[in-house]
Amino acid sequence: MAVKIAQTEEVKKFLNIVSGTTSEKGNPRTKKIVHRILTDLFNTIEEFDVQPWEFWAAIDYFNDLGQSMEAGLLTPGLGLEHFLDLRMDAEDKAAGVKQGTPRTIEGPLYVANAPLSKGSARLDDGTDKGEVLFMHGVVRDLDGKPVGGAIVDVWHANTKGFYSFFDKSQTKYNLRRRIETGPDGRYEFQTIIPAGYGCPPDGPTQRLLDQLGRHGQRPAHIHFFVSAPGHRHLTTQINIAGDKYLYDDFAFATREGLIPKIARHEDAKKMKEKELNTPFSEIEFDFTLTALAKKDAEEVVNRRRVEAA
Ligand SMILES: [Fe+2]
Repeated sequence: MAVKIAQTEEVKKFLNIVSGTTSEKGNPRTKKIVHRILTDLFNTIEEFDVQPWEFWAAIDYFNDLGQSMEAGLLTPGLGLEHFLDLRMDAEDKAAGVKQGTPRTIEGPLYVANAPLSKGSARLDDGTDKGEVLFMHGVVRDLDGKPVGGAIVDVWHANTKGFYSFFDKSQTKYNLRRRIETGPDGRYEFQTIIPAGYGCPPDGPTQRLLDQLGRHGQRPAHIHFFVSAPGHRHLTTQINIAGDKYLYDDFAFATREGLIPKIARHEDAKKMKEKELNTPFSEIEFDFTLTALAKKDAEEVVNRRRVEAA
């Protein structure tokens, strides 16, 4: 039986010193959070009798995670990003805030300042021969009124499951655009149907998932930020219906209300109308924005974001 020391006064005093609660300097909130995390870690090490070699393997893992830039991939994989969504949903429910389009995770692959156009855009650069997809709809408020001047910021993977910027073989801002809605609230874009994708098979995220007996696959999806003055910033995704992993997403992003019908057009006349000679798909999807609540007024979005140079 392993010796238990985590609850002794000596270790409790030690934890106070380590987390700075005995110092006048520093940030009180940081101290409290670090104190809690360290207390839980000490208890975990003790409860599971973690051996030094296991501990150092975990430290190597963190270094590998950082070097591989996969911290933002592990986070949704461990359900943390979905947990934040569930908390915000619960807070809204408790405060009686009416919900618009459901929120879901952002993921780590957004790039700021994609080209901006009015009303419509083409997202792909024409090099990827995936099936053409037309997506369109209206941005509305909770009363159903169209929201003009809204920005639909859209990004998604190519048919290999890779994102421009992170995948240097793609052109700058490929499959990334911002579309400003007109007074009728409408947006539309032409693109290609993305593929789902998985964690890098040899990376640290997949290594941990293997230990948990889980796969690291995501169903095909398209990411959105939708924003407009006087409304809450919406972070969401829509899924491509029919994907094998639709309800088995390693990042837990699939939500009811975010799986629009996808119509496939094989009719020669319809193809001609779109100046295409191959069948194409179409998705209609309206976004509903929630009005800005009082407590949101001072919301500061200060997450570090990359910009394609
Ligand atoms: Fe994604």
